[in-house]
Amino acid sequence: MPGDGREWELGVRDRGKHVTPAPPSSYRESHLSAAKARSYDEDLWDPGAAKGLDWLVEQRLLDDVLRRAGPAATWSVADFACGTGRVLEYLGRHFDAPSGIDISPDMLALARARCPDAELILGDVTAVPGLAPGPFDLITAFRFFLNAEPSLRRRVLAWMRGSLRARGLVVANFHLNPASLRGVYLRSRMRPPGTLPMMRAAEARRLFTDGGFSVLRVAGYSYLPYRRVGRHLHGAATRGSVEMRLAGNPVLGPYAGSFLLVATPRPGGPGG
Ligand SMILES: C[S@@+](CC[C@H](N)C(=O)[O-])C[C@H]1O[C@@H](n2cnc3c(N)ncnc32)[C@H](O)[C@@H]1O
Repeated sequence: MPGDGREWELGVRDRGKHVTPAPPSSYRESHLSAAKARSYDEDLWDPGAAKGLDWLVEQRLLDDVLRRAGPAATWSVADFACGTGRVLEYLGRHFDAPSGIDISPDMLALARARCPDAELILGDVTAVPGLAPGPFDLITAFRFFLNAEPSLRRRVLAWMRGSLRARGLVVANFHLNPASLRGVYLRSRMRPPGTLPMMRAAEARRLFTDGGFSVLRVAGYSYLPYRRVGRHLHGAATRGSVEMRLAGNPVLGPYAGSFLLVATPRPGGPGG
């Protein structure tokens, strides 16, 4: 297990190279400490740093998804792997009593403080049938699928299929594309090579298609490269306006650092 788990997401620099330590045996164990919860949360809110700026752009893209879907305030919504409540708090601004689901008590403790009106569900939906049965009209899942191991991804997709209404939506994000400038840079620095999880939009589409979903849309964002996640970005305001302008651009999409994927259950399921 890496120390506080943070370096698993970032990569650790060692003599100028990014060295990725061995991941936990399952992504389920990745955020199980108060120190990890605190360090994860503190990176999210500075719009002058990479994750904070990404979150501003992600909210704009989520607004766009909701505008197109035309949801009702009464939609039943859940944020899977809600962590410290970033996306759950957003859902609470649009829907009554969203549910937040996470396996880490320490992450949920911060979500509870941030989202007092949300229903918080502690546990593993892939191991406890009926823990969060829905039915949901919308499930979000941010910063989860990329780092989860393949068997966990498949089981979560199966739970999502079983818990969504017929025309329900999943909105998932994938936060490191190997074809982006940042992805190319990190691939050239990573030791040993290939150890940091990355996924192209085509692979994410296949994951969802194989899991029994139709992919409705993929929207890329986060184009400009940066070196370290927690560090204040140079020219943050200019970067922000460039990123806002480029987000969702269909031509540049394959080179985006991150993307949102919107999918709906396919009638007939994985084999249908
Ligand atoms: C990187 S955090 C993402 C938090 C939040 N979605 C966000 O974007 O800020 C990943 C979260 O996935 C949770 N997780 C891992 N395996 C899980 C599982 N099987 N069921 C529920 N949550 C899980 C971890 O506990 C952690 O809080």
